[in-house]
Amino acid sequence: MKEIKFDGRYPSVDDLRDRAIKKIPKFAFEYLDGGCNNDVNLIKNTKEIRDVELIPSYLDQHLGSDMKTELFGHIYDAPFGVAPVGLQGLMWPNAPEILAQSAFEHNIPFILSTVTTSSIEKIGEITQGKAWFQLYYPADEQVRLDILDRAWAAGYRVLVILCDVPTFGFRPRDIRNGLAMPPKMSLNNIIQILKRPEWALRTLKYGQPNFETLRPYMPKNLDLAQLGKFMDDTFSGRLTQERIKPIRDKWKGKLVLKGVANERDAEGAISLGLDGLIVSNHGGRQLDAGESTLMPMKRIVQQYGDQIKVMMDSGLREGPDIARCLASGAEFTFLGRSFMYGVAALGEKGGDHTISLLKVQLQQVMEQCGCATTTDLKNHLKE
Ligand SMILES: Cc1cc2nc3c(=O)[nH]c(=O)nc-3n(C[C@H](O)[C@H](O)[C@H](O)COP(=O)(O)O)c2cc1C
Repeated sequence: MKEIKFDGRYPSVDDLRDRAIKKIPKFAFEYLDGGCNNDVNLIKNTKEIRDVELIPSYLDQHLGSDMKTELFGHIYDAPFGVAPVGLQGLMWPNAPEILAQSAFEHNIPFILSTVTTSSIEKIGEITQGKAWFQLYYPADEQVRLDILDRAWAAGYRVLVILCDVPTFGFRPRDIRNGLAMPPKMSLNNIIQILKRPEWALRTLKYGQPNFETLRPYMPKNLDLAQLGKFMDDTFSGRLTQERIKPIRDKWKGKLVLKGVANERDAEGAISLGLDGLIVSNHGGRQLDAGESTLMPMKRIVQQYGDQIKVMMDSGLREGPDIARCLASGAEFTFLGRSFMYGVAALGEKGGDHTISLLKVQLQQVMEQCGCATTTDLKNHLKE
């Protein structure tokens, strides 16, 4: 088992976020950090998780806490994983590779996004086929089938299909920074890069980040506007039940729907024979007027928890947040920004540091509550 140790100078994800601000260009930090519209949903996600209270237990006999959690036939070392994040290499060169390697060593799942800056094959190799793959639904059938074949051949056995991006989120910071589609590189962005020389030099060394998984389908030498159009054309349209059915028929591994935030979509996923749900609102990046994920997660678990695996993300930052979500009914959790803050702050060491930190924090909460296993946390929820 991987040794758990973290750098004592950064004992919280807030510390990592503070350092990340100073390490990467403003447009990259804002892309990572922001929500949509007025950040109402983003803020609500964490707030409602933190309103959850746990009841400690001190005098009963307790022989130690074990975070190991079984999911889809695999026993993971902890009940959390790395959520799929697009364009990771923009925030720190090699970020997906760094996180995949650390997740593999710590025996937790890493989910590779279709639109990040590493390829299915490279991450498959790093994780020896243990990573999960998140599919953005490509409109072109040949591209779609080819991506699924590549994922299977590279050893991926859990496919996550994303349903909460029928349109790109309306994100004022990204629009201001020219990170919307089509992207543009403004003088302002160049000045921001010059202010972050380590980021700039590393980016020069490792090369401009690219959509590596999509590279075989992209015409060569696209300028930024053409790239925007390619992405728009490739990923247009919403993911309907009709579009999921053939994927269910084809994919022989576990199939998970991510982005579910209400009972109706959960019911749809069950009727299609899916294996799991990630209750998620994309970290508050899609529907500012929407609920936090904690509330729909609790209702979905209550109604459908015996029919499908219910996981969640959005708003968790630290170990106690993971404990709060598990106590509230989630079987497994994912975090997006926390790991990216870690890598943006600490580079190569950021993955290992953040995973270790979350493990230590979660273990501490379990000991306070006298929980032998993560499922015991449910008995410590203050209603
Ligand atoms: C910068 C950024 C990019 C993201 N890109 C993707 C993506 O490509 N695919 C996807 O399924 N989710 C994407 N997400 C959503 C995450 O998978 C996850 O749902 C979210 O980050 C969870 O919220 P948290 O950041 O509060 O932990 C992205 C999130 C962020 C912050």
